[in-house]
Amino acid sequence: MKAKGVRIIGDKARALCAAAAAVTALVAAASAQEGSMSLRDSLAGYFAVGAAVQPGFVDAGDAHSRLLARQFGAVVAENAMKPESLQPVEGTFRFGSADKIVRFAERNGMSVRGHVLVWHQQTPLWFFCDPDDPAKPASRELLLARMRIHIQTVLGHYRGRVRAWDVVNEPLTDGGSLRGAAEGSKWLEIIGPDYLDKAFEYAHEADPDALLVVNDYNLERSAAKRDAMYELVKGMRSRGVPVGGIGMQMHISIYGPSADEIREAIEKFASLGVKVQITEMDVSIYRGTEAEVPLTDDLLDLQARRYGELFDLFKEEAGKGALDMVMLWGLSDEASWLNAFPVPGRSDAPLLFDRELKPKPAFWAIVDHRAAD
Ligand code: XIL
Repeated sequence: MKAKGVRIIGDKARALCAAAAAVTALVAAASAQEGSMSLRDSLAGYFAVGAAVQPGFVDAGDAHSRLLARQFGAVVAENAMKPESLQPVEGTFRFGSADKIVRFAERNGMSVRGHVLVWHQQTPLWFFCDPDDPAKPASRELLLARMRIHIQTVLGHYRGRVRAWDVVNEPLTDGGSLRGAAEGSKWLEIIGPDYLDKAFEYAHEADPDALLVVNDYNLERSAAKRDAMYELVKGMRSRGVPVGGIGMQMHISIYGPSADEIREAIEKFASLGVKVQITEMDVSIYRGTEAEVPLTDDLLDLQARRYGELFDLFKEEAGKGALDMVMLWGLSDEASWLNAFPVPGRSDAPLLFDRELKPKPAFWAIVDHRAAD
């Protein structure tokens, strides 16, 4: 019996050692390629550069965690701070996974972006239902009270440890109206248009030092949406609502939109006196929903040129005081959400590190221009 037990432990130990050695080899190969170049250092004089992470990525010994700490100066939880993760059941807050990410950031001198407090997706249905009859919607008063408790509990928990928060995510339609019931949001329908003002006021009460951001996509692609965001934030500021930043998600493609369109949106927003943050950048190899294509050197080169020109633009805008954070929506291609969206199962390659965590041409276009020339 004893001998058998020892053998099992021995087998497990060997398997563990082999796994650890494989991880070490992967990380060593990636480090050897990157040499001493890091995004974090090359961009330090301009803005914090970060990545969206899953809780498993920050485990000691996980290959992602070393790459993250070496390359990035900021993190955002890809899903772990969303309402469905933090308060799945009314009154029951679960901070475990999000805390792990925040502690990892603090150990490695990285700043944290908080994502997200008020959104129409990944928010449990109970928020919007009458507790006595779940078939009926919650009243305005009840939804406001729930919103306040959620925002203030989360911001209270992380007070002073999260530099910027996406207070409201995706409030606009592509046409530029406030997203309502027809576009899948109950916030506007139940509370009315002042739900945005209230969310920012509650957030400011709980953490007066955090930069409070309204975040959306396609702000560089749709002039109507860009102008609507400008008017929305202008109105909020004129009412004294503590909105301090506009987040541009920046889910774009190697084919567009152009750097000029992106510049126009950044400068228009910055003219309001708010900070602009690039909050979820990735550069898909697709235009839309076309079929999967093989990842060729031509596509990688085009992607490198796009990342290169856009990071040059971001540096210029940071120099003017307009922009202060750039977050990538993921660390490496295998974990990108774009492998599941908009075409489930279609392989995409939108980030700076490949499926083996090795730097791609796009990485070199940012950290070392000579390598991309
Ligand atoms: C995505 C995550 O990356 C996925 O893992 C999840 O399944 C769905 O949400 N805009 C946002 C992000 O604000 O929260 C989304 O993240 C991507 C689009």
